[in-house]
Amino acid sequence: VSTSTRIVVPGPQPYEVVIGEGLLGGSELPQMLGDDAHRVLVVHPGALRSTGARIRDDLERAGYQAVTAQVPDGEQAKTATVAASLWGVLGRAGFTRTDAVLGIGGGATTDLAGFVAASWLRGVRVVQVPTTLAAMVDAAVGGKTGINTIEGKNLVGAFHPPAGVVCDLRTLRTLPREDFVAGLAEVVKCGLVADPQILALVEADPSGVTAWQAPSTRELVERSVRVKADVVGRDLHESGPREVLNYGHTLGHAVEQVEQYSWRHGAAVSVGLVFAAELARLAGRLPAPVAQRHRQVLAALGLPTTYRQDRWDELLAAMRRDKKSRGTLLRFVVLDDVGRPARLEGPDPELLRAAYSELA
Ligand SMILES: NC(=O)c1ccc[n+]([C@@H]2O[C@H](COP(=O)([O-])OP(=O)(O)OC[C@H]3O[C@@H](n4cnc5c(N)ncnc54)[C@H](O)[C@@H]3O)[C@@H](O)[C@H]2O)c1
Ligand SMILES: [Zn+2]
Repeated sequence: VSTSTRIVVPGPQPYEVVIGEGLLGGSELPQMLGDDAHRVLVVHPGALRSTGARIRDDLERAGYQAVTAQVPDGEQAKTATVAASLWGVLGRAGFTRTDAVLGIGGGATTDLAGFVAASWLRGVRVVQVPTTLAAMVDAAVGGKTGINTIEGKNLVGAFHPPAGVVCDLRTLRTLPREDFVAGLAEVVKCGLVADPQILALVEADPSGVTAWQAPSTRELVERSVRVKADVVGRDLHESGPREVLNYGHTLGHAVEQVEQYSWRHGAAVSVGLVFAAELARLAGRLPAPVAQRHRQVLAALGLPTTYRQDRWDELLAAMRRDKKSRGTLLRFVVLDDVGRPARLEGPDPELLRAAYSELA
């Protein structure tokens, strides 16, 4: 049995992200839930039904009163209707301020579980068990929670850091390979903005790392979580350093919208990363070989690095609507080099268009 890795996310209430294999049946979850909690709501999607039931049984054996609540898979769970149904479960089961919520699933499930925990009695403890690569390295760490409305994604939410996060790599065994690869786009993003060793690991065996059993998966998760923990620890509310995690996301989010969310998030981010690299290169900031390295590493993983050339007006309009843009100025995270992120505000429209043409 290999030992697990513990990464502390600093902040007003520091918490641990534990990474390893076979962590769900042991003492990790009870330790994070704490002795004060009597009741635990285990929120899971259909895809994690049996794991959710197993966790409930383990928690019952550990002395908790545990109930499961199955929610729709993926984004369908992030609605006010689903959140209200969970508040109903909590109310009927008499959950008090010291009781807890446990979210197990992808980022959609952990966002929902976190939001329900943030809002129940103005905030109860939540423990997150991410089961997609994207959720392990991104969504479940950092304390952002939320749901969608008809008008847009993540419009309702709260900052509510978890009491702990357990990344059990074995939960990835049932994840479709395309979803795992999409998660690798976020891993590459972490490498580009902060940790060149991540890029080296991926470049050493790009097709190998597309399988969760790859020997480097654990190190890739650990390094990416460290990047996120470091940034989040310095900036919970996303005004300063945390913005670097948005690298590739300004155009990426626009692609998701133009494609009406039929693309995986990671695939759209992959295109967005190439765009941001070309933007920085054309602005005379990023050396051409580093821009080329973006394309090579993403393409080697099977992620898209080009985009149709007849959508610029829609992409631009979508970028202007992005809630992270301030006023009418478009803001981009760009790189001066690997590991040297910077901000580019209000770039020349011609430059933006030229970067888009590089996606041909
Ligand atoms: N809070 C944050 O900081 C943050 C950051 C990034 C993304 N997000 C959010 O995360 C969500 C995307 O998360 P995601 O990419 O993890 O996708 P997801 O949660 O939508 O999961 C994708 C699909 O895989 C299923 N699934 C999850 N784990 C599985 C497993 N181990 N085996 C088989 N199937 C499994 C899910 O039920 C779902 O159907 C979005 O809603 C996004 O807004 C939040
Ligand atoms: Zn992302």
